[in-house]
Amino acid sequence: MSNIGKEFLKKTQYKYLEKSKQMQGYPPPPLQLDYDKNKKLIDLPKLEDIEVRTLDLRKAIQSRKSVRNYSDLPMTPEELSFLLWCTQGIKEVMYPHATLRTVPSAGARHAFETFLLINNVDTLEPGLYRYLALEHKLIEENLEPGIANQITDGCLGQDMVKRCGVTFIWVALPERMNWRYSERGYRYLHIDAGHVCQNLYLSAEALDCGVCAIAAFLDDKMNSILKLDGEEQFVIYLATVGKKKAIDY
Ligand SMILES: Cc1cc2nc3c(=O)[nH]c(=O)nc-3n(C[C@H](O)[C@H](O)[C@H](O)COP(=O)(O)O)c2cc1C
Repeated sequence: MSNIGKEFLKKTQYKYLEKSKQMQGYPPPPLQLDYDKNKKLIDLPKLEDIEVRTLDLRKAIQSRKSVRNYSDLPMTPEELSFLLWCTQGIKEVMYPHATLRTVPSAGARHAFETFLLINNVDTLEPGLYRYLALEHKLIEENLEPGIANQITDGCLGQDMVKRCGVTFIWVALPERMNWRYSERGYRYLHIDAGHVCQNLYLSAEALDCGVCAIAAFLDDKMNSILKLDGEEQFVIYLATVGKKKAIDY
């Protein structure tokens, strides 16, 4: 076990790769995880109706930092909608193979689903939701009162998870990536997750929101809370977002 990281890097070199599912002629996996069609979807404000202040990219990059304390001000559905678009928003669907989104992804595989722990967003009941990128809508996953505490515990008790406006939870579906890249796809999942989170950091600057990335979490616990099997679907990365305090410390 002690050499597992080195082993992973070695065995995912091209020379060791087996033929991918795509090379073997299998059809690609679906672009989005299925959902219960009997459930009512929750509309998000349309992108074209959302006004965001113009922020110079250089300023956004300069001022970005991890923020772990937030104001009690609720975030708005407009802000949430904008941040979802900036992190996973779909610009073009190329059925049946791929989507083009606001973030890059190896082979345009876009192998993530975005779950949201909503704590303090106007008009939205607190709880766990999932973002449906193809529809640009939300679906309820779990509104039990204890869910925020459970997810906080899963993040080693990092309190900001339940004190922020919303915690983004990115779930990886390796099959969607590995269909093209076989085992090497695991590398790309982690690289892709970094791009997504960086877009969240930068776009939040334009909303006077702060972000903190989270990779310190208990895999088994988080996967079981989200009802994921931990292999075909697993939590890869999280980030908290909330309105900045007037004076940040
Ligand atoms: C992959 C990754 C994982 C991180 N995990 C955590 C975390 O679990 N908890 C936390 O408080 N900060 C976490 N951070 C935030 C870093 O601590 C922070 O980026 C670093 O201290 C530099 O500060 P800055 O972001 O303000 O520049 C993480 C950052 C990255 C990129």
